[in-house]
This record gives sequence, C-alpha cells and structure tokens, in this order.
Amino acid sequence: MFHHDSRDWWRHAAIYQVYPRSFADANGDGTGDLAGIRAKLGYLHDLGINAIWFSPWYPSPMADAGYDVADYRDIDPSFGTLAEAETLIEQAHAHGIRIIVDIVPNHCSDAHAWFQQALAEGPGSPARDLFWFREGRGEHGELPPNDWQSVFEGPAWTRVADGQWYLHLFAAEQPDLNWDNPLVRAEFADILRFWFDRGVDGIRIDSAAMCVKDPALADFDRTSPPDPHPFVDRDEIHDIYRSWRAVADSYEVPRALIGEVWLGDTERFARYLRPDEMHAAFNFDFLGAPWDAKAMRACVDATLASHAPVGAPSTWVLCNHDVTRTVTRYGRAETGFDHALRQVRHQVPTDAALGLRRARAAALLTLALPGSVYVYQGEELGLTEVEDLPGTVRQDPIFHRSGGNDPGRDGCRVPLPWSADGTSLGFSPDGAQPAWLPQPRHWAGSTVADQQADPDSMLRLYQAALALRGAEAGLGDGPMTWLDTEDQVLAFTRPGGLTCVVNFGDRPVDLPWHTDLLLSSAPLPDGQLPTDTAAWLRTTP
Ligand code: NOJ
Repeated sequence: MFHHDSRDWWRHAAIYQVYPRSFADANGDGTGDLAGIRAKLGYLHDLGINAIWFSPWYPSPMADAGYDVADYRDIDPSFGTLAEAETLIEQAHAHGIRIIVDIVPNHCSDAHAWFQQALAEGPGSPARDLFWFREGRGEHGELPPNDWQSVFEGPAWTRVADGQWYLHLFAAEQPDLNWDNPLVRAEFADILRFWFDRGVDGIRIDSAAMCVKDPALADFDRTSPPDPHPFVDRDEIHDIYRSWRAVADSYEVPRALIGEVWLGDTERFARYLRPDEMHAAFNFDFLGAPWDAKAMRACVDATLASHAPVGAPSTWVLCNHDVTRTVTRYGRAETGFDHALRQVRHQVPTDAALGLRRARAAALLTLALPGSVYVYQGEELGLTEVEDLPGTVRQDPIFHRSGGNDPGRDGCRVPLPWSADGTSLGFSPDGAQPAWLPQPRHWAGSTVADQQADPDSMLRLYQAALALRGAEAGLGDGPMTWLDTEDQVLAFTRPGGLTCVVNFGDRPVDLPWHTDLLLSSAPLPDGQLPTDTAAWLRTTP
C-alpha cells in the first residue's frame, strides 16, 4: 500500500497540508469539504506526496478557522461526517498516502461542552478548574488578573457574566485549558487514541510550546520576558509530550508526533525532539529565512546541527496557512518572513515573476535537503498572497482584533483554482455559492488544469521533483555534503550521487561536474545556471 512502508516514514516524507475550507468544495456551499478532498485524492497521489496533514476539521464556530475546537471527536457538518472522515482515511491509505490530523491542546472553543459547563457551574466549580478562571484586579474586579496580551492582539483575558475572567492566549473564543488539571491530560490522551484507532498515522500539535502556564500568573515585561517565560516553553511541558509519545508508541505501527514549536533558541527547540518526545517539528527558521545564499546555508547548517544530537530528522517548510505565500515573499525587497512585520510588509511592491522564479528554485532546494518536507496547498501552483481582499470578507481574528491594522492571514487561505469549469475556478461545482473568500482574477490562467497541460508550470515542476524524490534512494533523510562554490551559489550532494545546485547571485555560473541533468527550475542557456535557478544533477562514476 505504501511506497515507503517503513515505521519511520516521517523521517523522509513529503507532507501536503490541506486547509479543508479552501481545498475543494463538493456540495456547492462555497466552503471546502471532505467529499471535495476525496475527489482529489488522485491529484494528490499524482503530485507524489506521501502524507496529508489536515488543518482542523472538527466541529467549530470557526472563530479562528477551526483552531477553536468544539468537539475533538467529530467532523464539522460543513466539512462532512465522521463516517466520511473514516472513509477518507481508508481511501488515502489505499492511495499510499498517510494521514496527519491537527490536535489543538492549548485551547478549545468557547462552544466546547467543558467551557459551557464551566460558565454554567460558576466560580470555584471543578469545571472552572479545567480553564484559567480568576478574579479581576481593581476595586470591583474590573481589571484583568494580569497584563498578558493575546497573540492576536488585545488583552489575553475576557470577563464573564458573574465577574470572573478567563485566560485566552489567542482569541476570546479560544479559552486556554489548564494542563495542571489531570482531567485535561486524560482527555487528550483519549482524543489521541480516538484518532489513532481510526487509522490516523500522526498528529500535528498546535501551539505546542504554550500549554503550560506559571500558575502565579504574574505581570511581566514583554520586551524582556523572564526566564523561564510564564507561558512559553516551560520545562514542565515535556512531560505532556512524553506521555503522548507513550500513546503513539503503543500502536503496532507507532504514530508520529509533529510539533508546531516557534522558538528562537535552537537548543530549546531540539529538546522537544528527544527520543521519547516528538518525532519532528516544523522548521520555522527556514520558513523565515531570506532568499540569500549565506542566510540559507547558515539556516541549513544550524538546523542539521541542532537536530543531530537528538537524532531527529530535519523538516523543511516554505509556507503554511499562517504566513505570506512564498511567491509573494520572494518577489519583494525583504524576502524573509516575520509575523511581527506582516503589517509593514503588506502591499509593498512585489515582482511576482521574480518571486515565482525564486520559489521554483526554492522548491528544488527544499525537496533535496535531508529530512521531511512540507508543501502547503497551492504552493505547488505557485499561488500568490491575495492582498486586496476587502475587510468585509476577511475572517481572521487577527484582522478584527487589530481593528484592521494587521491584514491577518486570509490572503494565504483563498480557495484553490482547479479549472475554468464550475464556480470559483472549479473550486465548487456549477451553480454553487461563491467561495468563502474571492479568488483574484489573475488566477484564471494558472489553474490546476492549465498547469497540468503546461510542461513548464510550477505544478509540473513539483510533480517531477516529487517523483524523483520518491525514486531516488538518497533523497529524504540521510547525510548531505556541501560542495565548494562561489559565495552566491549553494551546492550539495546526497547519497546516491544527486547534486542540488542553486544560484542566488546576479550572473550565470557553471554547473558543478556531473554526468546527467535531472531537472532544473528554469532553462539553462549555454549549459550555465542562471540567476535564481536551481538544478538537480547526477554524477555516476
Ligand atoms: C497555530 C495555527 O497554525 C494558527 O492558525 C492558529 O491561529 C493558532 N495556532 C491558534 O490555534
């Protein structure tokens, strides 16, 4: 059933992120659904990916696009049913594709039964202890219990009718769970088993470094937070993932744990990847790195160095549903990504053709590096960030909580363009409701159907590179060796004789010695590698 039917598939897999609302809509309501995804499993198989990670598909009021989970053991009716999810898991497996679901442990939805119970049962009740309820400060408790700020802007506390306040590090509709309460721990172990028992191969762990809080709940200076931080990366958090690893390892084919861990400190990051904790974590340093040979090489070296001591595979990520699309980012003067600069870098001059050229080269670089790799839906089509969405259609709580100052993340979540047929460029069937976010007109020429027919398209490049990655034994996990090159060029070899070379400089360069040219991200005039181009070469002795 699986090409790499090994227990350690997560060490080398190419993992495709499906954002269910925006992938494919089969029932015509303008929102993606499981039936839409099932109809496209052939597309994903032909793309050559090994696993799908689904952003949350659970019942949710969608205050944060499903990252506000009302029931961890069911499917949102707008996406389908639990029975359909079970069928989807089976059908994906039959296509040789593994399934990763998104588990959100830091917070649930305010519509979750536990939170509703906590509201109903009032202060001092056991249900309130599943969350962080506190009295306010000030003469009448009218001030929040401390000065913590939400990641989505504004205070991290909201007051309820009886006067108490509850903590939410994200939106007010996402109350933080109290991981000091054993019921929370038991509940999540059970949720993991629920999905693993249905054949799910792994989980992506949302906001994985934030679950444990210092119960002192003290004020702190955000410009120089204390060490340890009151809610980021506290030592006690590792017990949670050790216990999850035991659950994952209790299956005949162990399930994989993949963490969303945003930490600047690579040594602290690697602690999550110790042999009895998570299997892998997203490499956000790579996602943030600018298009620059020196910076990229430094990032690759730092990644390999931090993963080696714990024996974990590296991961390579260029974008996801939270960040500016790669083509747009690489088409700008500032090519790195930083959440804090999203509003400053919004709608700045962008050369999309340059961005696409670089994104094509980056795809070959990324797919040749050792470890596993993530592809966010639409990345394989070279989609751009949609920056001109009117405020009236934007849904991201970041946009709304910042009073519109921060554009938020809707621009990378616009439904995929499949074809000229149907509604919304084939995202929905004929006669459907408009898509939940409008697609830009210029996507009309670069739908999946157009790109399938064009041998020079981004889609065909991804298909070719993923096919080679699957076929070449030396790609995926394993060693790499840098070759000596001039400053603006990166070149490295992988076991099996594949060489990847990328030219970040402003003039063409000669290719390293090779016997075969396997693939290049752009034509190679006179056999030279032009600016912002990558090639895969083989050297057979
Ligand atoms: C990280 C997710 O990727 C993001 O989309 C979400 O808003 C936050 N965690 C909160 O769940």
